[in-house]
Amino acid sequence: MIKEKLLYLQTFGCQMNVSDSEKIAGLLKDIGYRPTNDSSLADLIILNTCSVRARAEEKVYNHLVQYKGLKRKRPKILIGVGGCVAQQEGERLLLNIPHLDFVFGTHNLHLLPELVLSAEKGERQSETDFIDNDSRLDLFPVDNSTNGVSRFVTVMQGCDNFCSYCIVPYVRGREISRRSADILEEISQLAAKGVKEVTLLGQNVNSYGLKSNGELDFVTLLRQVSEIPGIERLRFTTSHPKDFSRQLIDCFGEMPKLCKHVHLPAQAGSNAVLSAMNRGYSREEYLSLIGQLKAVSPGIQITGDIIVGFPGETETDFQETLSLLEEVRYTDVFSFIYSKRPETKAAGYSDHISQKEKQMRLDRLLAMQRKITLENNRSFEGSVQEVLVEGESRRGGQIYGRISGNRIVNITANPALVGQMVKVTITRGEQNSLQGELCN
Ligand code: 5AD
Ligand code: SF4
Repeated sequence: MIKEKLLYLQTFGCQMNVSDSEKIAGLLKDIGYRPTNDSSLADLIILNTCSVRARAEEKVYNHLVQYKGLKRKRPKILIGVGGCVAQQEGERLLLNIPHLDFVFGTHNLHLLPELVLSAEKGERQSETDFIDNDSRLDLFPVDNSTNGVSRFVTVMQGCDNFCSYCIVPYVRGREISRRSADILEEISQLAAKGVKEVTLLGQNVNSYGLKSNGELDFVTLLRQVSEIPGIERLRFTTSHPKDFSRQLIDCFGEMPKLCKHVHLPAQAGSNAVLSAMNRGYSREEYLSLIGQLKAVSPGIQITGDIIVGFPGETETDFQETLSLLEEVRYTDVFSFIYSKRPETKAAGYSDHISQKEKQMRLDRLLAMQRKITLENNRSFEGSVQEVLVEGESRRGGQIYGRISGNRIVNITANPALVGQMVKVTITRGEQNSLQGELCN
């Protein structure tokens, strides 16, 4: 019998990293590592990192400093860094951080058991080579966890869009679509385990299959997934406005299982900024897309991402972003101050906006969106919604779930309902969630 050791796995960043972390935990289980929530007890600490903004990257270094003390106390503890910072920095991390044992890139998860076994023998290694597409197809993360009624299923990895601010194409590599047969098989297995909702995951899911010979396109994939017995709800993220087809819009009117929510990042509201960002659509095209979605699916909830303070963004440009928020009336927006990232095209643009001004723009945007979000949440009051109950709330005595439009609802009800689809009357729309009561 292999002696069981403890793994403390810390995940930063997006859902893609969360899904990679599940794979990491699975691979390390095979060589005797069991997860722990207490870093001080761990035999192995792994940081699965994000580098999409500088702040996310700094967090990783702060954690590594913290683990230096731990390693001094318990020199046998092993520390590894994976994910996007690992991909970006590679060997340099080993050179700069003497208490680090190994580094693995975004394409090298499968090498992890070997890296850990070598590290146990005192070897310090970094593996960050991108691998060929055939191998990537065989190495897509598969969801092996046992909990939850709602799961994410990775359908694509990487990105070919090269938005001028974005590091993703450099740290995740070129876009690749997973085999549809593998996706359908994974979802069938999830459904057999009781999963009722799946979210198809990728950096840019709308272009699924377009670059692979003989592969299904995204709309056909969605239709096939929706036919899998047991799957009651279907979502996908993230979409790119430039690849959102008319057929995909129509799906929201035709597929009852497709949830009434789209995450459709605009990033900016001014054509000058959109063009400098290399987004491939205009404000007018974006708004037309939103209009078509709302026409096909009245009440559809739209969320988005916005970057403020992109190099060259004028006050007038920024006001166009504010007016976009008003026109779209987003359910919610994730907003970020522009962060200069290595290798990206925008890193070479001159950036004259002061940090103070960027922060003021972000604050103005947040204030406006908070108001829209609250008004939108209140508009649900009195309506009856189907809710898939996902778990027990942190507020005691309540359970929570999501409406089709992806808003969270807290309900005072029996925890035995977790995993069930229930009908709920919305009694109150709050800033961050809804309150509801079970219908009789
Ligand atoms: N600076 C700020 N925000 C960024 N994002 C991506 N790159 C940057 C950057 N360099 C944001 C975008 C994207 C989200 C995941 O992160 O809004 O949609
Ligand atoms: Fe980054 Fe643009 Fe690709 Fe999204 S679509 S991951 S923002 S390059």
